[in-house]
Amino acid sequence: MLTVAVCVALLGYLQAQELQGHVSIILMGATGDLAKKYLWQALFQLYLDEAGKGHSFSFHGAALTAPKQGQELMTKALESLSCPQDMTRSQCVELKGQFLRLSQYRQLKTAEDYRTLSKDIEAQIQQEGLREAGRIFYFSVPPFAYADIARNINSSCRPGPGTWLRVVLEKPFGHDYLSAQQLATELGSFFQEEEMYRVDHYLGKQAVAQILPFRDQNRQVLDRLWNRHHVERVEVIMKETVDAEGRTSFYEKYGVIRDTLQNHLTEILTLVAMELPREVSSSEAVLQHKLQAFRALRGLQRGSAVVGQYQTYSEQVCRELQKPDDFHSLTPTFAAVLVHVDNLRWEGVPFILMSGKALDERVGYVRVLFKNRAFCVQGERHGTSEQSPCLPRQVIFYIGHGELGHPAILVSRNLFRPTLPTQSWTEVQDRPGLRLFGRPLSDYYAYSPVREQDAYSILLSHIFHRRKESFITTENLLASWVFWTPLLDSLAREVPRIYPGGAENGHLLDFEFSGGQLSFSQQQPEQLVPGPGSAPRPSDFQVLRTTYRESPLVSAWPEELISKLAEDIEATAVQAVQRFGEFHLALSGGSSPRALFQQLATGHYGFPWAHTHLWLVDERCVPLSDPESNFQGLQAHLLQHIRIPYYNIHPMPVHLHQRLCAEEDQGAQTYAREISALVANSSFHLVLLGMGTDGHTASLFPQSPAGLDGEQLVVLTESPLRPHQRMSLSLPLINRAKKVVVLVMGRMKREITMLVSRVGHQPKKWPISGVLPKSGQLVWYMDFEAFLG
Ligand code: BG6
Repeated sequence: MLTVAVCVALLGYLQAQELQGHVSIILMGATGDLAKKYLWQALFQLYLDEAGKGHSFSFHGAALTAPKQGQELMTKALESLSCPQDMTRSQCVELKGQFLRLSQYRQLKTAEDYRTLSKDIEAQIQQEGLREAGRIFYFSVPPFAYADIARNINSSCRPGPGTWLRVVLEKPFGHDYLSAQQLATELGSFFQEEEMYRVDHYLGKQAVAQILPFRDQNRQVLDRLWNRHHVERVEVIMKETVDAEGRTSFYEKYGVIRDTLQNHLTEILTLVAMELPREVSSSEAVLQHKLQAFRALRGLQRGSAVVGQYQTYSEQVCRELQKPDDFHSLTPTFAAVLVHVDNLRWEGVPFILMSGKALDERVGYVRVLFKNRAFCVQGERHGTSEQSPCLPRQVIFYIGHGELGHPAILVSRNLFRPTLPTQSWTEVQDRPGLRLFGRPLSDYYAYSPVREQDAYSILLSHIFHRRKESFITTENLLASWVFWTPLLDSLAREVPRIYPGGAENGHLLDFEFSGGQLSFSQQQPEQLVPGPGSAPRPSDFQVLRTTYRESPLVSAWPEELISKLAEDIEATAVQAVQRFGEFHLALSGGSSPRALFQQLATGHYGFPWAHTHLWLVDERCVPLSDPESNFQGLQAHLLQHIRIPYYNIHPMPVHLHQRLCAEEDQGAQTYAREISALVANSSFHLVLLGMGTDGHTASLFPQSPAGLDGEQLVVLTESPLRPHQRMSLSLPLINRAKKVVVLVMGRMKREITMLVSRVGHQPKKWPISGVLPKSGQLVWYMDFEAFLG
């Protein structure tokens, strides 16, 4: 016991030691907008909070500007620093003076400048007999400058052994998944993950920073309520009145989804949706749980979102970016997106994310609206108390602005009385007449921060204290882009609905949702300005019917194509069940059928799942729980949303005796036996195939003889791509099917589509050319990108 106490004390002492020492903070972009508006003030606050606790500081404002002019600009920014309200004037003057003396401007341009900075810091530390604790480099610069700065810091400005380095990065962190990955790889070659702090300033907003602590402190009540059985829907909203004027060069590249939904709103969503770790103070646990929440997000389709653009946006772009007068931008300045979280806690609960410029008010909030099953007989006139079970029940994290004018946490009085930390949150005084979300303020237990703090002050304090849970890790960043990139791609040619801006928007942007779809409530009015005439819209084309390789071809834009295919599969299923009492469907993996699975899961309630048997066309030799496994894709996008008897699901036995696809385990033969036992004549009612860019289908690859002919129904094969080992239905088995459908989507398939249209029966070169059901039907489904290019 004594040993434990001594160790704990020693650890505490060592931690305190670690914190002490000299900290140099280098603010790059020291004369820029963000620095002037927030960062210097936040650094001053950090100094006020920490300087008395045994640390010494120096602040280096840096930019490319020459020293004299830079110093002048920086001094101007520092003059406007303000002190906390509870500080006396003389204290304020003294502390501000100290801070100004510690803050120097320097030009940081060349590698030599960085070396000199490092030498100067070391010299100062030696002269003053200090010990260096660490260095914080704040990158308040555009991302194109990141790589050079990072290289210079890494090569000439790292502090010595036993000290720490923290680099702080501001968004945008990429433009889509690929660019984010490139940037992350580049930064990763200079810095360790633990050294990087990617800022999302919404994570520093007080109401947002309180989401996890609130869930933790009210765990007992919320454990019961925070799930699909009780939550009706969740809204994550960020409305702005400002527009993009003056920022169109940035905005034109990003648009509202990249600017606020991919980051601020998604971060907030994950804080609400993630499983609560036992220890919310453990950064590692929080970040891991957040990542799991990202991975549970159901893929978005074009129908999951609506987009708009305020009327004067294109004019502003023309003016600021010198575009011709008839230029019409497609960049959205408003977006609403319907998100689903595919796990047991949230299945079926809509999460609505919405953000826009030039709207009627500035307000941000997260609103968790609970289901209400109570029915009150007595009319409201006869007195309804705020505790009445019939009133709406909601928890709101009010980020700021709006009618209330400050951050707050509101909990309906008929729900529960929340616990909040009393030293930092206090009950809001009632303001008669003020109504929030349709109810008077008095209907809520309402709390606001005792001291309102700016997000950047909070985040800088977290950086200083190494609280990584308030920042975006590389894994989280990429997971977020994985989620958003397909939607962004599919919206790239969408013409946004034009809205006049401000209060005049009326109900033009109102939207509604059902199933997986979200749409504007009102019909599209006459466009206020014409959309770009040349961009074809999906509805401009009907579903096209023709032939391909002498078999029927259905072609359309992706969404229509998937709808059509899902309808056709359902019709085949209904027919098979009527005739044979069951439907045997063999499905491919990969990315193309994902949208189909989702469509079947969310749009086909009449599908006879109870009589359907699901088989796999092919499988990668990885455990079934591996994200790469085809079965895993089927599970994530289809199985978990439908009611199908467990014994009707037939995954491929690739993982037997704790090893993968070993010949001796006879997995292929086992699967073949299962098919022969359950499927009459081993003839599936429907087989869904894809076509690879090399002409492969199922897991039958060019120049690899396995499975192209012979007696075997199921075979082990080799893929040129990882994971190399595969299990696949053979061509002879596929060709016994009553119907074979080949789904081909995306521009990448264009070349192979052209090529295969011309070749004869050459399965060794192009296995797909060997697909020809003996007595069944073959139908091709291709989207316009794959078919027309
Ligand atoms: C930024 C966006 O991240 O957040 C801006 O780039 C947006 O477009 C801003 O206006 C909103 O932040 P805040 O703190 O003013 O709500």
